Order: sequence, then structure tokens, then C-alpha cells
Amino acid sequence: MAFIDLAKQRYSERYFTEKPVEKEKLDLILEAGRVAPTGCNYQPQRIYVIQSKDAMEKAVSTKASLCGCPVVMLVCYDRNEVWKNPIDRSYDEYNCGEQDASIVAASMMFQAEELGVHSLWIRGFDSKYVSDVFNLPDNEIPVMMLALGYPSKESHPAHLHSERKKIEETVQWL
Ligand SMILES: Cc1cc2nc3c(=O)[nH]c(=O)nc-3n(C[C@H](O)[C@H](O)[C@H](O)COP(=O)(O)O)c2cc1C
Repeated sequence: MAFIDLAKQRYSERYFTEKPVEKEKLDLILEAGRVAPTGCNYQPQRIYVIQSKDAMEKAVSTKASLCGCPVVMLVCYDRNEVWKNPIDRSYDEYNCGEQDASIVAASMMFQAEELGVHSLWIRGFDSKYVSDVFNLPDNEIPVMMLALGYPSKESHPAHLHSERKKIEETVQWL
């Protein structure tokens, strides 16, 4: 499938089944994240694969909208290993951690889609709570959770999925 078709096919899944995602598929999804570009190739991403009962209970306690998914990738970055942009004077200490974590997560999201594994990008959580509940080291900053799994019969795109701005509203050709 052409990438543009894959990108249009994907939608945020909010109706997962309990069916586990096969280990080989999770490995491939993680591999897609591994080869993603990062600032200066520092690869500061730190990914927690949450699927045990104990870890899932912790994830549910964060109140993130997991929607019954069987597995979640918690994507963080290590602020001690992230590339800091020295020439941008608009910020005291700009680092690329959120960008790095996001491109890693996006790569995993589209790899999942190609494998027929649906996903939901989640940022609706409290970072401090997530750090505490998973006992993350102080240098690891949680960025997002990627819920993964298979769609149930009720699966459908939410109305926002079809509400995309016209290209002229977001793009300027200079
Ligand atoms: C940065 C970001 C944060 C998001 N956080 C959440 C979230 O916490 N909960 C949720 O249900 N969806 C979340 N979403 C999914 C968006 O609501 C969704 O992508 C958007 O409405 C477009 O719909 P679509 O993904 O079906 O095309 C998030 C997406 C992004 C990119």
C-alpha cells in the first residue's frame, strides 16, 4: 500500500478488543521506532512496553484513555541524552526530546497500521503521576502513550477524523 493510503486509512482507535498483539508484530513496531531519526542521532527515546497485568493496572490508574487496549507503549525521552539546540536564542535550553519521542512514536504508529494493528496516540495524562507510578528515573520525561491493539466490531473513526482543514489553511508556499 502506498504510504499516503496508509496515512489516510489510519484513525484513532477507541474500541479495542482484548486480543493480544503478537510479539513479532510488537518487535517490528519497536524496530520502526528504533530506526526513526532523532536530533543529532542521540536516540534519547526510552520506551516502556506495558502489557503485564500489573503494568496495565498502573497505566489505567493514570486515567489515560486506553480504551481497553491490550498493550501500550509509553514513550519518554532521556533529558541527559537529548540534543540541545545551541543556536536558538528564543529558548533558554531548547531540547529536541518531544520531537524525538514524537517521530519515534509516529513511526511505530504507522508500522502498526501497516500490520493491521490499530493505535491511539494519548497525551491526556499527568506527567508527574506517570513518572511516579512507573517509577521512572528523574531524567526520563514521559511524552506520550501509544495504545495498540485490534479493532472490535464497534470500531469506527470519531467525527474529528474527517475534520481536516483545507491544505491552504495550514500551508503557505513561499
Ligand atoms: C499530541 C496528541 C495527543 C492526543 N491525545 C489524545 C488523548 O489523550 N486521548 C484521545 O482519546 N486521543 C488523543 N489524541 C488523538 C486525537 O484526538 C486524534 O488524532 C484527532 O482527533 C484526529 O483523529 P484521528 O486520529 O482519528 O484522525 C491525541 C493525538 C495527538 C497527536
